[in-house]
Amino acid sequence: MTTHRYPESHVFYRKLGYEYPKIVRGEGCWLIDERGKRYLDAVGGAYVANLGHSNPEIADSIAEQCRQFGYLSGTMFTHGPVENLADELAETLPGDLSKLYFLCSGSEAVEAALKLARQYWVEQGRPSKHKIIALSPSYHGSTLLALSASAREAHKAPFKPWLVDVHRIPASYPYRCECGGRGPACPVCSAAVLEEAIEQLGAGNVAAFIAEPVGGSSTGASTPRSDYFKRVREICDRHDVLFIADEVLVGVGRTGTWWAIEPYEVAPDIMTFGKGVSAGYAALSGIAAGQRVVDAIAEGSGSFVHAQTFSSSTNGFGCSPTSPMSATCAAAGCWPGSSSSKTRRAVRRSRARRNLRSGSPTRRSMPV
Ligand SMILES: Cc1ncc(COP(=O)(O)O)c(C=O)c1O
Repeated sequence: MTTHRYPESHVFYRKLGYEYPKIVRGEGCWLIDERGKRYLDAVGGAYVANLGHSNPEIADSIAEQCRQFGYLSGTMFTHGPVENLADELAETLPGDLSKLYFLCSGSEAVEAALKLARQYWVEQGRPSKHKIIALSPSYHGSTLLALSASAREAHKAPFKPWLVDVHRIPASYPYRCECGGRGPACPVCSAAVLEEAIEQLGAGNVAAFIAEPVGGSSTGASTPRSDYFKRVREICDRHDVLFIADEVLVGVGRTGTWWAIEPYEVAPDIMTFGKGVSAGYAALSGIAAGQRVVDAIAEGSGSFVHAQTFSSSTNGFGCSPTSPMSATCAAAGCWPGSSSSKTRRAVRRSRARRNLRSGSPTRRSMPV
């Protein structure tokens, strides 16, 4: 049997000192290698394979799209899958988030979200608003702006001269905080540090605050106090700062509601999503923005200055009437699969209220 490691293979592996098992088949939450060994894919790879492996519904949807057409340029055409998927996602999103822009990875979504926030202020005639505030610990991706926003010093070290300055405040991390998340006066857990940072930088210079509603790979599912994001929302509103929720890892049902911010009963101005949105069957991500944000551009320059070849592709998602989004929802148990959108919203609201009453949002593992 061939050995799958560097430099014997032509693949430039992620770990150059590791011998890789070669997977030949996936069955639900199991992976099987060429020797027949079975692996329980308990976390869905990098928090991605939320609907398990070899899902026939998704295979059919992607094949159906391939039979209709291949690539279409977003500068000239729209198409069924992108319209359907945008409609389906808009139905689930909190607040006024209803305009969807698709991309291929979480890092790209974070880049686009930050650039959208910046362009929004330029279009509003406030070009001095350019600073970004982010949390520490945090991770938002590996492209240069997303990496700049991330508190991953080891990942940043070789690229320091190319990174932009992002202002960092401590993340609310109740498990490690001295107050254990129970102190309403704690400057970190109450988000007071955000207001201090905005005042220090000058609100006229701050474009956006970016945070994961539930800590992902940096803080191991850390859940801020139930009033944390309400306070964040108030502070951002008071100082004209856009709030970006990065739901690349925690969104699309992974935490038990469609979006991890839902139990906090506030909506961000821009949200990123990725990973679970395609359950790993396609490189798919995106941003969702409120019409207010997009209107600023529609009524100004007329287009978002951020073009990518695949920025209106959904890679087969949104094609079939029984789309993978519905399957995601049913598998996540977010609401009963057959309910109307009105019922779904009611179920979501009551779940959020219940979670808040119990002190903090409920965390539930997603089936893989
Ligand atoms: C919160 C968050 N944002 C962004 C990213 C970057 O996503 P990608 O690796 O798809 O570029 C990640 C990746 O783990 C993430 O956890």
